Amino acid sequence: MELAIVILAAGKGTRMRSDLPKVAHPLAGKPMLGHVIDTARALSPGSICVVFGHGGDRVQREVPATDVIWAEQAEQLGTGHAVAQAMPHISEEVVLILYGDVPLIRAETLRDFVSRVQPDTLALMTLEMADPGAYGRIVRNAEGAVQAIVEYKDADATQKAIREINTGILACPRAFLDQALPKLSSNNAQGEYYLTDVIAMAVADGLTIDAVQPSFPWEVDGVNDRVQLARLERVYQQVQAEALMRDGVTVMDPARLDVRGNVRCGQDVVLDINTVLVGEVDIAARVTIGPNCLIRNARIGEGSHIEANSVVDGAVVGEDCHVGPFARLRPGTELAAGARVGNFVETKKTLIGPGSKVNHLTYLGDATLGRDVNVGAGTITCNYDGVNKFETHIGDNAFIGSNSSLVAPVSVGSGATVGAGSVVTKDVPEKELAVARSKQRNLSGWQRPSSTSQEASQKASQDAPAAGQPGDTSRQGEQ
Ligand code: UD1
Ligand code: CA
Repeated sequence: MELAIVILAAGKGTRMRSDLPKVAHPLAGKPMLGHVIDTARALSPGSICVVFGHGGDRVQREVPATDVIWAEQAEQLGTGHAVAQAMPHISEEVVLILYGDVPLIRAETLRDFVSRVQPDTLALMTLEMADPGAYGRIVRNAEGAVQAIVEYKDADATQKAIREINTGILACPRAFLDQALPKLSSNNAQGEYYLTDVIAMAVADGLTIDAVQPSFPWEVDGVNDRVQLARLERVYQQVQAEALMRDGVTVMDPARLDVRGNVRCGQDVVLDINTVLVGEVDIAARVTIGPNCLIRNARIGEGSHIEANSVVDGAVVGEDCHVGPFARLRPGTELAAGARVGNFVETKKTLIGPGSKVNHLTYLGDATLGRDVNVGAGTITCNYDGVNKFETHIGDNAFIGSNSSLVAPVSVGSGATVGAGSVVTKDVPEKELAVARSKQRNLSGWQRPSSTSQEASQKASQDAPAAGQPGDTSRQGEQ
């Protein structure tokens, strides 16, 4: 039977105390509603319809999805009324109702759940709770068959004592909903059209209610405030960490790993504490990631090591590379096999050839380096004139001395050497040495001022205020 999924997301979410609509608040870097839509997609339904209302089209802007039908519920008159707004937009035989603020429901659980729906059977997700709070209560008859849901505010003392609650997730034949929804009334404690009232109607029509429990209680946890959101974030992260560990990843502390995207890891990867993995991340076998690293939209090749406090963002790291500690690889960086990028090195749109080393205190932007290049400490590619970006090319086996500025566009040929402290503005031919710095002068016989001569001169200037001492070249920094 073809499936339509309706996601309710029209509520206000007052307790978030936020300008952002509740369902747009991120969990693991993605709006809660985005998680629910992705889970819905995983079931390959005929259509997905999101009922929005409070906050208007802000929800659509924050959670853009073109394969979704957006149905507006202008006034929030209750969950039954909300589902009724979706009905004109869908035509499938089975309707599954989910919630934009119940983000961790799993596709596996829903597949089994939906499969229980028959022309004469509704599936209702319920949960036994030690402390059932203000949830709707599941009323069963003496034979244990579900008869009705009673909302907490409408419940009597006996009903309030029931510990089986309504999670809200419901799947039923569309034909049944079509005739039941128009019959709902708002004659109840909250003056709302309760979706939950369709259960008693179904029973009166001779239908059966199949009450199903989720595999994990957290799948049906809703978010009303930021405390609950933070709790679910931790649940989500624990699940991600456990999945990685089962795939052969060592996670030094599952409580200090954050996955905000889609992460694929090979075997024997080691993730040290405070690793944050964002977006699409591919980590090959035997890679180690040191403490406090951010890896975003990146690929890291087999056996590479990313040392502590490094950022790998929009970059591709080849096999057996060494990055960090304290390195920052920005978008467009590619490291070939065996390359090394050390501390306080920033790279952007830069290809670093096999075995090349950029070990300390360097900025490389818009650059290509061949194989076995050595870039000395403090090297800068001057790639930007304030408006335009220019490229730097460095050939195989070139050696760039420390503290050099390579003023792009410029190229350094294969096997060429740049003397330390050079400002290179012209291309350097293959194998040649370029030295571009002022020549050193040594002044013989020059004397450093001693404290006794200084006191004498100070005394002289107090006695007779005069202009500064001439010819004293040692006084750098005092002018
Ligand atoms: C609802 C159920 C209750 C269940 C609980 C589980 C009803 C009448 N009650 O109660 O049995 O135990 O969920 O959390 O269904 N919404 C709309 N439009 C509306 C009203 C609500 O889109 O007019 C959406 C909300 O955004 C929210 C969801 O429906 O995502 C549930 O609404 P809420 O008001 O939280 O229902 P509860 O009173 O918690
Ligand atoms: Ca609720």
